[in-house]
Amino acid sequence: MSFELIRLTDPVDHRAELADDVRRGLGSHPKWLPSKWFYDDRGSALFVQITELPEYYLTRAETEILEARADEIVGTVTPDEIVELGSGSSTKTRILLEAMRRAGTGRRYAALDVSEGALKDAGSTLVDDYPWLDVEGVLGDLLRDLPRVPRHGRRLVIFLGSTVGNLAPQERPAFFRSIRRGLRADDAFLLGVDLVKDEAEMVAAYDDAAGVSAEFNRNVLVVINRTLDGDLPIDAFEHVTRWVPDASAMAQSLRATRRITATIGALDLEVSLAEGEEIHTEWSCKFTEERLAAELADAGLAIARWWTDAGNRFGLALIR
Ligand code: SAH
Ligand code: AVI
Repeated sequence: MSFELIRLTDPVDHRAELADDVRRGLGSHPKWLPSKWFYDDRGSALFVQITELPEYYLTRAETEILEARADEIVGTVTPDEIVELGSGSSTKTRILLEAMRRAGTGRRYAALDVSEGALKDAGSTLVDDYPWLDVEGVLGDLLRDLPRVPRHGRRLVIFLGSTVGNLAPQERPAFFRSIRRGLRADDAFLLGVDLVKDEAEMVAAYDDAAGVSAEFNRNVLVVINRTLDGDLPIDAFEHVTRWVPDASAMAQSLRATRRITATIGALDLEVSLAEGEEIHTEWSCKFTEERLAAELADAGLAIARWWTDAGNRFGLALIR
């Protein structure tokens, strides 16, 4: 019926936050950058390409579960609205929105994402395809802004794609507690998580033959150069992914293939890397049902229903 964009973060604050992260992350030893800065328009488009790669099983596995369980999920929760964290293209969300339409429980969808381009693209195509739906695109940070999304009745909060795995492990307890605080008695939280599996299969998903994951990883440098007047030599960084058992995570980084000295003009900052030095850019944590249940319990949350795909690669938890 309508699409409205709500800006919880204005462009000046967005740039200031990136500046702060770059100053702190590139000034640290070892160096790091938060993964949320991958997602300008190009980064969001590259992620959609990743979801279609033969090696990237996550999206197909989660789609399989949603297709089998959407009616059950919506029938159990009977939501007035669906609120999605890190919504991206909202493609899989359609399965739940169509189930909500069939059940006749609600006709409102709020998508919270840091990527303005993704919110506008997804929002405008959704209202074209679903004239019965009210769509709100909320530009903000999923770690901070859920309490500021206007509420219209009983909520199903969804966080798909295993994006929860992109939080640093030490960020998850506070995140789950913030979800708990935001839920009312009849609300529910639907969480998709990638499961621990054969290492080679996980590594391939983050190191595809076509090199899209590498371009996606390097895009954070493109964003920094453009937004903060930097001259980081993008081609001098190679994509690295590795399994880190202690964190139960795939870790992505960018490795300097030679000695690098660059300037971030807007920050008056000089950045030096030795040959072989890495910038950590992303965690992609992998879960077991038991470990997830324990972390949720610590935050006062419980898994009410748990489903996996036929290949046991991905899990979907309905949490209350
Ligand atoms: N949910 C979709 C997209 C996953 S990609 C799927 O399952 O396929 C991760 C999405 O989270 C991107 O759209 C990115 O812009 C968004 N994102 C990443 N970090 C974020 C943050 N801190 N706050 C808000 N959105 C974030
Ligand atoms: C969005 N997120 C869950 C993806 C993942 O699998 O960690 C992002 C990604 N990074 C590299 N490939 C895909």
